[in-house]
Amino acid sequence: MNTVEENADYAVSAEFYDLLQAEPDRRRAERWFAAAAGRARTGIVEFGAGTGLVTGVLLARSAVPVHAVEPAPAMRTVLMSRVAALGADRRARLTVHPGRAEDAGLDAVADLAVAANVVGCVEPAARRALWRAAARALAPGGLLLFDPPPPALPDAAERLGGLGPVRVGPDDYLAEVTRVPDRGLLRMVFDYRVERAGQTVREARESFPMWPARPAALAAEAAAAGLEFVPAPHPDLLAARRPAG
Ligand SMILES: C[S@@+](CC[C@H](N)C(=O)[O-])C[C@H]1O[C@@H](n2cnc3c(N)ncnc32)[C@H](O)[C@@H]1O
Repeated sequence: MNTVEENADYAVSAEFYDLLQAEPDRRRAERWFAAAAGRARTGIVEFGAGTGLVTGVLLARSAVPVHAVEPAPAMRTVLMSRVAALGADRRARLTVHPGRAEDAGLDAVADLAVAANVVGCVEPAARRALWRAAARALAPGGLLLFDPPPPALPDAAERLGGLGPVRVGPDDYLAEVTRVPDRGLLRMVFDYRVERAGQTVREARESFPMWPARPAALAAEAAAAGLEFVPAPHPDLLAARRPAG
C-alpha cells in the first residue's frame, strides 16, 4: 500500500476534489448564487474559485464578465482544465486571476462578488484584506455573498462524515472528514483512501486550518473596509453591500 501524508496548499486535495465533491458543491452553488448571478448587470467576482465548481454556475446563470480569483496552483490547474472545456462564449466572459483576493487589483468591475467556502479558510489579516478587495471590486451598490466561518471551536474532534465512494474502473475513491480543535484554530482533516477489491491501496491526508469568527465580528471588519451587512438571500449565507453613492 502506498501511503502519503502531506500538509500542503491543496496539493493533495486537488486530485480528489471534483471526483468527491463536484455534484453536491455544484447543486449548493445553484442554491446559493444562481438567482443573484442572474440579476448581475455589470460583472461578477469570485474570490477563491478553487477548481471552478462555482465559477461554472456563475457563468451559466449570468451574461456578464466573471472574474475568478484563485491563488493555489493545484486548484487553479483543475480550474483551467474546466475552463478548457467551456464553450467559447463562456470562456470569452471569464478572466482568471492567479493570486490572492488583494492581488487581483479589481476596481469597481462587478455588482456581485461571491466567496464560497473561503472566508473561514483565510487567517484574520487575509480575511480583512479580502473585505477590502471585495469593497474595491464592487461598484457602489454591489453585493458580496459568502458563507460564514464556524462561529466557535468544537470542544473535541468531530467526525463530519464521508465523501464518496466514487467508482473509477476497479477502484473506489473516498474520504473521511474530521474537524479538530488545534491551539485556538479549527483544523479540517481530509483522509483520502483508494480501495480495490475491498483493500486499501492508497491513502493521503491533507488538513486545513480554519479561523472561527462570529457574524458580529465579521460585520465590524467588513464595515472597516466600507461594506455594510445586509439581509442575505439564503439562510446559509451572509451578505454585505458597498453603499450606493
Ligand atoms: C475550500 S476552497 C473552496 C473553493 C471553491 N470556492 C469551492 O467552493 O469549491 C478555498 C479556496 O480559497 C482559496 N483562497 C485561500 N486564500 C485566499 C485568498 N486570500 N484570496 C483568494 N482565495 C483564497 C484557496 O486557494 C482555495 O482554493
